[in-house]
Amino acid sequence: MKDLTPRREDLDPIEIASRDEISALQLERMKKTLKHAYDNVPFYKQRFDEAGVHPDDLTSLKDLAKFPFTYKQDLRNNYPFGLFAVPREQIARLHGSSGTTGKPTVVGYTKNDLDVWATVVARSLRASGTRPGDIVHNAYGYGLFTGGLGAHAGAEKLGCTVVPVSGGMTSRQVLLIEDFKPTTIMVTPSYMLNILEEYQREGLDPRKSSLQVGVFGAEPWTNAMRKEVEDAFDMHAVDIYGLSEVIGPGVANECVETKDGLHIWEDHFYPEIINPETGEVCEEGELGELVFTSLTKEALPIIRYRTRDLTRLLPGTARSMRRMEKITGRSDDMIILRGVNVFPTQIEEQLLATDGLSPHFQIELFKKGRMDGMRIHVEAMPDTAGEDARNMAAHHFSKRIKDTVGISAQVIVAEPGSVERSQGKAKRVVDNRAGD
Ligand code: DLL
Repeated sequence: MKDLTPRREDLDPIEIASRDEISALQLERMKKTLKHAYDNVPFYKQRFDEAGVHPDDLTSLKDLAKFPFTYKQDLRNNYPFGLFAVPREQIARLHGSSGTTGKPTVVGYTKNDLDVWATVVARSLRASGTRPGDIVHNAYGYGLFTGGLGAHAGAEKLGCTVVPVSGGMTSRQVLLIEDFKPTTIMVTPSYMLNILEEYQREGLDPRKSSLQVGVFGAEPWTNAMRKEVEDAFDMHAVDIYGLSEVIGPGVANECVETKDGLHIWEDHFYPEIINPETGEVCEEGELGELVFTSLTKEALPIIRYRTRDLTRLLPGTARSMRRMEKITGRSDDMIILRGVNVFPTQIEEQLLATDGLSPHFQIELFKKGRMDGMRIHVEAMPDTAGEDARNMAAHHFSKRIKDTVGISAQVIVAEPGSVERSQGKAKRVVDNRAGD
């Protein structure tokens, strides 16, 4: 793999500023944001008043803990435009959550917000090792989902040539990669596995592709998956994080030179880790729920938004800004099986460590009598032929899960291609417990 470390002089100065400079900027912006929200969004005025706090009560960053949280339900209750802090005519773009049922949660951007968003995505791409002039293949979905257009604008802002492919039509993805020769691909990690599979199906060598960097996000993925994809394509795989309520992709990104967690672009997004049960702010390094406050957004200032994502905050390394560890999972996706907490990422890690099985999987939860059970649907590698070899692989995989996660799971090893493939965010868990 090529050394793609960006030159220090190409970074935004704030990325490598002193902590004091960063904190001073954050405090100034946080004060403005709280006032902007309080003065222009009736919801925030009411919430702050009920909690007995006023924007003037914030004199240090720590004071933010006095302010109330905002939840996804608050966006739903104020559907569609109730949380906007500027007149509707000043909203240049709308996006929404990627949920497939019910009404989407709507987010809006002023022209300036769109510019800030493109700036943080451009910064994320540069951190990933992408440079002006590179060709970027963008396979995040275009539409209300923030992935496609968010990645697109950032790549343009950095000065790249963007190929706006969107998700799906996997053989065409491979054709365009082979013909246009992009050096960067932006896509969900689960969809990257489908692209890899298509390479193999067509008898092409992925290591000979032009790709040097993959910027993978929108769903949890593990370091084991990083190794799998890096080895398969002989490319760097870095993590990009974000959510529509906060802005979209580009809230945090890994640096290609360290790949040690995601640097949060703290000049625009202020992170906290809280205990999800008590709401108390955790010490740096403790695992808990990630909470964000926007520092520069005009259309939809967001105060202490409960992401439901679980991670920990760590000090900066390649940049002065703090890092978040790779997301363990969402609290909503945590499976509690006979008292043991399990995340799909833990299953992914063990699957990738088991010989003979491909990385595609889906977890099914079921009920037998009064007991909950877990069945994991996986696939044999094309070269793991024969009943015995498959049984052996299933045995090794379930033993690994038992030894590391502490639960007994049934493993079903099916034919290659039988586990549902994702076009964007993978659906890792199917819960059939209510039905049986
Ligand atoms: O998924 C934005 C995005 C697009 C991020 C493209 C990265 C790349 P939403 O659809 O609002 O926005 O979903 C946000 O996805 O709260 C996390 O649970 C999950 N998520 C996003 N990035 C990561 C990541 C986009 N790198 C929700 N690792 C978030 C783990 C992620 N989970």
